[in-house]
Amino acid sequence: MLLTVKVQICSGKSKILKEYRFKDFSIYSGNDVFDILLETIIEKSYTKVFVLADTQTEKYCLPLLKKYLFDIRLITIENGEQNKTLRTAEKVWSRLQQEEADKKAILINLGGGMVADIGGFCASTYKRGIDFINIPTTLLAMVDAAIGGKNAVDFNGIKNAVGTIKQPSVVFIHPDFLNTLPREEMLNGYAEMLKHGLILDKEYWDKLISISTLEPNKISPLINGSIKLKMQVVKKDPDEKSLRKILNFGHTIGHAIEAYSLALDKKPLKHGEAVAIGLITEAFLSKVKLNLSNKELKQIADVICRCFPKYSLRSVLSPDVIGYMKQDKKNIEDAINFTLLKKIGKAGINFTCSESQITAALNYYDSL
Ligand SMILES: NC(=O)c1ccc[n+]([C@@H]2O[C@H](COP(=O)([O-])OP(=O)(O)OC[C@H]3O[C@@H](n4cnc5c(N)ncnc54)[C@H](O)[C@@H]3O)[C@@H](O)[C@H]2O)c1
Repeated sequence: MLLTVKVQICSGKSKILKEYRFKDFSIYSGNDVFDILLETIIEKSYTKVFVLADTQTEKYCLPLLKKYLFDIRLITIENGEQNKTLRTAEKVWSRLQQEEADKKAILINLGGGMVADIGGFCASTYKRGIDFINIPTTLLAMVDAAIGGKNAVDFNGIKNAVGTIKQPSVVFIHPDFLNTLPREEMLNGYAEMLKHGLILDKEYWDKLISISTLEPNKISPLINGSIKLKMQVVKKDPDEKSLRKILNFGHTIGHAIEAYSLALDKKPLKHGEAVAIGLITEAFLSKVKLNLSNKELKQIADVICRCFPKYSLRSVLSPDVIGYMKQDKKNIEDAINFTLLKKIGKAGINFTCSESQITAALNYYDSL
């Protein structure tokens, strides 16, 4: 990965951006990224520019983008995870078809992980694939969902059950979008940032847990740390054959609890809230299987319980949650596959845990 600080002279002003360049695509982050967006669109001679937004990002984020892009065709979908479905994908494909999008059209995904996931999925399948650009507008999408090339919809109640792996052509990260993001959505992204520290970089973890609030001005300077860590992994193993599985720490249990809550709760858990539970319970399994120290397990549990609302697992029958885990894409044959921690900053892949160990981990979370 080539990490450069790009200095552009544009209209007489010098602009400083971070640029991460890979074989087929780049990620730009900074306050001046949209000058590069405009250059990219002109340079590639796209025939039509489509912007996919959800109802909230149309309201809060589109006005900034419209200052830079004029001739766009807007496709708006309903916000929320419950709309990350094939039915919504069909609506997007239909609009592309109605507006005669050809192979040289571009889809710009303006939104959080939901828009990035479904937009990437629609673009990578429409006419066997058109280019797409991600402009993440939530913290979670900036540090995780919009980078890495995984695109999916939920299907029959199973998270991300149908999808593709295709990288966006470019990702533009503009931290100003965080100014309108509700605090619970900031927490969502924070969970994934904590995960990056836990699996790969203790120093980064220490920095993350030392910030006093999740205000955009405190969190923005740390975003590039997560991008760098995630992309180091994705670059080595884009198709998740091996190393990339370390990014799944917290997600085997997290995804199962998220799917369970989505099916049953009136106000379902957010992705990051479920992942936060996954981080604690899978840290517990790390202690059982890999001797993660008690001190580090306690620190992980303390940090997460301090920031995230407590969810009662008492109502969750562990066989049901385990049923969802059995659907996990990472499993091979019947074994539920886990990424676990050897210590903070170092993870290992492909561990299996018994149902009684998983139940003990859920009980540990409940006892906190
Ligand atoms: N593909 C991947 O690698 C990957 C990784 C992690 C998560 N995900 C997926 O990402 C999704 C969760 O993403 P998310 O947490 O960003 O949720 P989200 O996209 O649903 O956004 C959360 C809410 O915030 C609103 N919103 C977005 N930007 C805003 C802004 N700037 N100001 C005000 N409101 C704004 C949205 O409209 C929505 O209501 C899940 O579907 C998850 O499975 C994918």
